[in-house]
Amino acid sequence: MRAKIMLVLGTRPQIIKSAPIIHASKAAGVFDLRVVHTGQHYDYEMSKVFFGELRLPSPDANLDVGSGTHAWQTAEMMKRLEEVIVRERPDCVLVPGDTNSTLAGAVVAAKLAVPVAHLEAGARSYEMTMPEEINRVLTDHTSSLLFAPTRNCATNLAKEGIPRSRIHLTGDTHFDAFCAHAEQIADQDLSAFDMDRPFAYVTVHRAENVDDERNLKQILHGLLRLKGLRVVFAVHPRTKTQIRRMGLLLKLKASGNISIQRPVTYLQSLALAWNSSVVVTDSGGLQREAFWLKRPCVVLRATTEWPETLSGRRSVLASPNAGQIVRKVRDMISSDSKRPKRMVPLCARKNAFGDGHASENVLRELRRFVSTL
Ligand code: UD1
Repeated sequence: MRAKIMLVLGTRPQIIKSAPIIHASKAAGVFDLRVVHTGQHYDYEMSKVFFGELRLPSPDANLDVGSGTHAWQTAEMMKRLEEVIVRERPDCVLVPGDTNSTLAGAVVAAKLAVPVAHLEAGARSYEMTMPEEINRVLTDHTSSLLFAPTRNCATNLAKEGIPRSRIHLTGDTHFDAFCAHAEQIADQDLSAFDMDRPFAYVTVHRAENVDDERNLKQILHGLLRLKGLRVVFAVHPRTKTQIRRMGLLLKLKASGNISIQRPVTYLQSLALAWNSSVVVTDSGGLQREAFWLKRPCVVLRATTEWPETLSGRRSVLASPNAGQIVRKVRDMISSDSKRPKRMVPLCARKNAFGDGHASENVLRELRRFVSTL
């Protein structure tokens, strides 16, 4: 009988980084892979659109948890996941990334004595006030198998005393997804984005930037001051709510240089990053994609769990301060000379995030692990 692996996901980046695993698992036919969606992201453009674009089958179960406070959301996921895990009795629960869905999956499985495998283990910003850092640390320390996307992540885990036998340097499945879609990037129709001149592609969604009014105001004022540069701003629902609450939506729309957009699809996002003069973001996923696309990136964070992207000043960190954002955006644009002609050769080259075959490494280690159970 094939071993049963339960993959728990719930947010858009988790769908993207899980896609290569789902496809590789299907192709190999080794596992009975069950996908459980917690429902953390539920809007069409935050979830379902990615299943279509990445050609994924619908999840086997959707727990429809939705939004709430961290405790409510995580607890609700845990209650509903417990029922599914008890019913399905998987051999292993695989949790990707660092969201509340990741933590809920890890804690419930570990307490039911079902081994946990963490995809994207060992990423650390060393900011324990960040919800994602709490999720990463707790998930890593409840996991039996830790799939580190980079050497730095593997080192972080070893430093925390996690036995080396549990740590596997696999590469980053997010990079696998990128490589699998790189050839489609140039074909994307971006005419709806109203970008007739050099533009910055902007996303902001982290709690520390969005929920703190002063920080969000500084970021928005920075964007308003980027005169002469079009700003394509793909706005997360959480950010939109806060901008509306602060009464700034009309001001942004009336600015003339900012184009406010709904959340974009995976391929649109890659194409926007590729065509932009600079990416401005607090997303760890987009930060890495900008690195792979060799686009300059201003990361709206004080620290990063992806220090690999800072090498050669391909990305720089910026505090939520309008003046600093404007200065760093201008600096990054003026020093950019590395735009490659095509994406595919970039994928063929091994980098800190692997060679585009991380999902095969993950499946190999999973197979080895379950054969010992
Ligand atoms: C979550 C993850 C974050 C990840 C991000 C990817 C946690 C703690 N955070 O942040 O690590 O980078 O997903 O996007 O797990 N909302 C909608 N529709 C949706 C989903 C959310 O309107 O489909 C709104 C709700 O108002 C909700 C808010 O967005 O309260 C925040 O959503 P939530 O899932 O709590 O966190 P994200 O900010 O999306």
